[in-house]
Amino acid sequence: MTPLLRQVLGQVNSPDPRLNEIVSALVTHLHAFVEEVRPTEREWIAGLDFLIETGRMCTPERNEFILLSDMLGLTSAVDDVNHAGPKNMTPSSVEGPFHSPAPERDLGAWISFGPERERGMPTVVHGRVLDCDGTPLADAQVDLWQANDTGLYDTQDETQDKGNLRGLFTTDADGRYWFRTIRPSSYPVPTDGTGGKLLHAIGRHPMRPAHLHYRVTAAGHRTLTTHVFLAGDPYLDSDAAFAVKDELICHPVAHDDGGEQWDIDAPYEEIGFDLKLVPDDWTEEKA
Ligand code: BEZ
Ligand code: FE
Repeated sequence: MTPLLRQVLGQVNSPDPRLNEIVSALVTHLHAFVEEVRPTEREWIAGLDFLIETGRMCTPERNEFILLSDMLGLTSAVDDVNHAGPKNMTPSSVEGPFHSPAPERDLGAWISFGPERERGMPTVVHGRVLDCDGTPLADAQVDLWQANDTGLYDTQDETQDKGNLRGLFTTDADGRYWFRTIRPSSYPVPTDGTGGKLLHAIGRHPMRPAHLHYRVTAAGHRTLTTHVFLAGDPYLDSDAAFAVKDELICHPVAHDDGGEQWDIDAPYEEIGFDLKLVPDDWTEEKA
């Protein structure tokens, strides 16, 4: 440890020991970064200017720092350290910046009401919400959101009605949920801010593989925020938000006819995705 770092750490004296731990570790890692990279003064100021510009991009509707955190894999890293659970649980995955309150809808409802419904592949999504031991969870709330076929959420796009491609469903007595929508498409994360500048500067693309977002709540269980991704998507191995986990990839089934069972016109696709929630009182020791 350098004398300078020792001096800085010696002045971290909050009555809150956790705050001391966090600040001390952060300062230690940043000093190690400076020792390793030896930035010039111009480079250091350019880094600080980048953070200032990031702050200026932020509004109540848009948080460029979260986007940066997503793009650097940090949101996923924080998610991983906070969501340990039984092996068979459905893994969590980043929330992303586009969640907003969804309209309550009946099971089976369409969530797509804009012109994308004419352009997109009709898709039925169904599954069950279960405890990790397989017990169905009735009355669970399944909150869903997805982008349209041009990659925009209703909150980003004046041409979509609010609530388009969103829905809040309540599972039935067998823990089942289902709804009708259009097949999600891969899309770019917003690139008009510092996040986009960084991606461009380091030669990365901004694409996210096609996905649906879920936030599932059930009494006595941890809330699960996650995604389902579609197998075959070209961006599964290079998600701009590093949110893909193998257990979250599902294989859509294409149907050229039929569809009466779901009241959907063929051709259509079917996505089946069960979600296994962790009991509130789960601990590593109990496992
Ligand atoms: C999203 O899927 O909505 C998203 C997640 C992380 C960064 C940007 C967008
Ligand atoms: Fe998304």
